[in-house]
Amino acid sequence: MIRDKGCGEIKESDRGLTLTLSGWIFRRRDHGGLIFVDLRDRSGIVQVVFSPDVSGEAHELAHDLRSEYVISVSGEIRKRPDGTENLSIPTGMVEMYVNKLEVLNESSPLPFGIEDAGDASEALRLKYRYLDLRRPEMQRNLIIRHKVTKVIRDYFDEKGFLEIETPVLTKSTPEGARDYLVPSRLNPGYFYALPQSPQLFKQILMVSGFEKYFQIVRCFRDEDLRADRQPEFTQVDLEMSFTDREDVIKVIEGMMKKLFKDVMDIEIITPFERLGFHESMERFGNDKPDLRFGLELKEMADLSQKGSFKVFLDALQSGGRIKAINGKGMANLSRREIDMLTEEAISFGAKGLAWIKVKNGFESPIAKFFPEEILKEMAQRLEAEEGDLMLFVADKEKVVFDVLSRMRLEFGKRLNLIGSGYKFAWITDFPLLEWNDEKGRFEAMHHPFTSPMDDDIEKMLTGDMNNKELLFSLRAKSYDIVLNGYEIGGGSIRIHRRDVQRKMFELLRISEEEAKVKFGFLLDALEYGAPPHGGIALGLDRLVMIMVGALSIRDVIAFPKTSKASCLMSGTPSTVEPKQLKELYIKTDLP
Ligand code: AMO
Ligand code: AMP
Repeated sequence: MIRDKGCGEIKESDRGLTLTLSGWIFRRRDHGGLIFVDLRDRSGIVQVVFSPDVSGEAHELAHDLRSEYVISVSGEIRKRPDGTENLSIPTGMVEMYVNKLEVLNESSPLPFGIEDAGDASEALRLKYRYLDLRRPEMQRNLIIRHKVTKVIRDYFDEKGFLEIETPVLTKSTPEGARDYLVPSRLNPGYFYALPQSPQLFKQILMVSGFEKYFQIVRCFRDEDLRADRQPEFTQVDLEMSFTDREDVIKVIEGMMKKLFKDVMDIEIITPFERLGFHESMERFGNDKPDLRFGLELKEMADLSQKGSFKVFLDALQSGGRIKAINGKGMANLSRREIDMLTEEAISFGAKGLAWIKVKNGFESPIAKFFPEEILKEMAQRLEAEEGDLMLFVADKEKVVFDVLSRMRLEFGKRLNLIGSGYKFAWITDFPLLEWNDEKGRFEAMHHPFTSPMDDDIEKMLTGDMNNKELLFSLRAKSYDIVLNGYEIGGGSIRIHRRDVQRKMFELLRISEEEAKVKFGFLLDALEYGAPPHGGIALGLDRLVMIMVGALSIRDVIAFPKTSKASCLMSGTPSTVEPKQLKELYIKTDLP
């Protein structure tokens, strides 16, 4: 027998037993007389002691043990002597006195210590991912991820959902990002696309009558990567028939409640707060607000109008906006520190950052442009008190929102305002369409199969298509779910009427031919009795990242990719044999 128990499972009640344990050497302390080893396996860590009084042979052998050797030890479990207990580990009351040691395998010297791998560069950790994954923290993350998917599967099973797999070699779906392409050897010149999501297939499963589908599924998007984005990531994807927005929302709220309870023993309060898209933008500057703290953006156009600061008046004149945020308790910043803040705002896209200190009245180079009552009103609106710093951005709406939402988050962190806990919200009432300046046409804000709100369908079918105002006012029956400032999911009720779908393509300037080529199979399916349907997809990696408190989704994915979409451990992507390319009729033409 290589082991009786896991290292982390040893308890005080095992005292007096002689057991065999196996694992890796986490730490080793040689005190000459006694040698202490922290032995680690998946279940945890336990201290084992080599004493010449118990076994001279084992003690002698133990001198040669090094970090990450794999060993098997047998010996008696004893209570640790008073004062030597280690309360920071569950097994800290006991230790094993070894009478037999077997070295199962040695280890080369490590590129970084397992214990302080957190300090090693991420590149090194990713190259030696198998070592990085030995860290208790990483093990814990992946164990929680396993539990999360298990609870989710059980939940959907109980609710009558069927897990149905959809193809990985598929046709490109117009989800917005760039596709990963796979050449077809049997069809020279033809390509598969890896799915950005199972969107079209899950809708077709509704046409096929499955009514409730879910899948924990890998999705692929060739886009610029960030801490919360990977080129391949996992969705909890679902679709339901004979359903409306409220049903989808309820199913997901129920899932979150169960998930947090079962995995983390945390009570989540439902229903979640709901915010309209426009409200979210006005109050927080983005559509994924972190609701764990305030510092909301406030309107300043009306008050700015009553002053004579040219920068503000010009911004309003040219159709821009002015909003402000309260830098709580920051009136003591020096001129230099404010300059640094301004630089930061500029790096976020602003032209500048106007500021007014609330400090023995108002202190600011721009205070002279405003009557005292207006300054007071500004302060009142921002709930700025003595010691606070009011910060203004005047610009195009997009810039104002973007810059202030980023400053808000930055201040939240800097001022330690972001409490612990989990704040969910639904963002609803998104616009159906958004204008793409580059392409000079509208695009679907979610995707082209998203239904308009019931009240807007007539407007869409009969309204003047050249009336941009009207098109901007169309709202989508879509919803995003947000947790602690991250978009963790999004979905919509779909268009199931052919006339509405056709109109949608018309608005997006997608010709009938183009639509046929791109997603004709879905359009055909919609001809044959499609039930009303809708669904959502959650980003599993992001959700788990937030649950475990990680800062990057790479920490909850066993083998993630770098920001250059490569795997440093396996050396992916790589070049291939010329013969392989020839079979695929592919010639590369590298610069
Ligand atoms: P959407 O594109 O919003 O919707 O994706 C759903 C959720 O997936 C997560 N996500 C990602 N996570 C990590 N890395 C990425 N590159 C990445 N891209 C997206 C996000 C996001 O909210 N088919 C629709 C869903 C539907 O309409 O039912 C879809 O894919 O958390
Ligand atoms: P100026 O008149 O350019 O010296 O700017 C005076 C103050 O207004 C400085 O603090 C600038 O950072 C700030 N400022 C300049 N442009 C903007 C803008 N678009 N929005 C907010 N503040 C600005």
